Amino acid sequence: MANIFPKATNVIVIKASFVLSIVGLLAVIAVWYYFTPKYSRVGYQPVQPVAFQHDIHVGQLGLDCRYCHSYVEVSGHSNFPATQTCMNCHRQIQANNPKLKPIRDSWATGQPVAWVKIHNVPDYAYFNHSAHVNRGVSCVSCHGKVNEMTVVWQHESQSMGWCLQCHRNPENYVRPIAADKPGEQSPIYNLDWTAPPGKQGEIGRKLVHDWKINPPKDCAGCHR
Ligand code: HEC
Ligand code: HEC
Ligand code: HEC
Ligand code: HEC
Ligand code: HEC
Repeated sequence: MANIFPKATNVIVIKASFVLSIVGLLAVIAVWYYFTPKYSRVGYQPVQPVAFQHDIHVGQLGLDCRYCHSYVEVSGHSNFPATQTCMNCHRQIQANNPKLKPIRDSWATGQPVAWVKIHNVPDYAYFNHSAHVNRGVSCVSCHGKVNEMTVVWQHESQSMGWCLQCHRNPENYVRPIAADKPGEQSPIYNLDWTAPPGKQGEIGRKLVHDWKINPPKDCAGCHR
């Protein structure tokens, strides 16, 4: 095939593609840097040591979040369940299921299961679970419909802007703590609860007023 361009252009093409690849690499790094902390955490879904399913245990069996995350309403940190909590049932149920072997090993050795933590607030910001769930903020506002998840994934960015969009307008989110009817589950832990159509604003404003809800918006409120 005849050369359409003079020989020297080959060098130009090589130089140009070299420069372009550097520019491309920088662009990738920039996007990676800017998007990692705030945006691409959404969807983070690490592989856990045991294929535990919230859809089975919450959605089908109807267990309350606090059966396993027992500190969530009394402490700043929610906790991962102790192996004993699983063994309450799995000593009998599916006692030989290979998927549960790490749980049986943990029970035998006393070594806790190494669950991988998904949600993380950096140390320089202060977050407290009980301050939220006892003031009408449901798990679903911050973690999505965990009751339907086969494998938990991060549903919200949990960036500063995300915290603040609720702190500025809590009436859009807060819900009653008491069950609608006696014997029903609290709307905080019932992730399927929704206000009657068109009523969230009204219910939210009443709770904000009655409970004097005033989430911190000043820097020192969260950066203590
Ligand atoms: C039978 C026990 C059990 C129940 C009930 C349960 N969970 Fe969990 N949860 C776990 C275990 C085990 C993990 C760690 C493994 C995983 O991520 O699936 C976990 C992890 C999570 C995580 C991820 C935490 C992180 O950042 O790593 C969230 C969020 C969560 N659960 C929310 C809920 C909510 C909301 C409910 C109630 C609707 C609930 N859980 C009920 C056992 C339970
Ligand atoms: C209240 C009882 C109860 C507790 C507590 C409980 N489970 Fe289960 N789990 C069940 C039942 C019932 C099934 C079977 C569901 C089915 O076969 O449809 C099951 C199934 C499973 C399975 C098998 C799923 C499969 O596809 O084979 C795993 C893994 C599992 N549970 C892990 C755990 C872990 C880990 C914990 C502790 C964090 C736990 N379970 C706590 C009742 C419980
Ligand atoms: C206002 C938002 C918010 C609400 C409401 C909330 N969480 Fe969280 N959750 C978070 C944040 C933020 C983290 C990361 C905390 C950290 O790294 O210190 C987290 C972390 C967790 C963890 C991992 C352990 C830990 O404490 O870091 C579990 C388990 C969990 N949440 C379960 C729940 C359950 C169950 C509920 C409802 C009963 C709930 N959360 C309600 C925001 C929330
Ligand atoms: C869906 C709504 C919502 C989201 C999202 C939310 N908060 Fe809040 N926050 C509240 C409400 C409601 C209160 C209770 C205010 C009150 O009691 O007056 C509160 C209170 C607080 C307090 C004061 C509690 C105390 O112990 O003094 C801190 C600190 C706080 N939130 C930090 C955060 C951080 C950090 C995030 C993001 C990681 C966050 N919040 C996300 C609604 C929310
Ligand atoms: C409602 C709680 C809250 C308030 C109020 C708040 N912050 Fe933050 N801030 C956070 C959280 C949570 C993070 C961590 C965000 C992340 O992990 O992406 C953060 C991160 C930061 C960062 C690190 C850079 C970044 O964007 O991730 C700076 C700087 C910062 N905040 C400054 C401030 C200043 C200045 C104010 C007052 C004008 C303020 N914050 C008010 C919760 C808050």
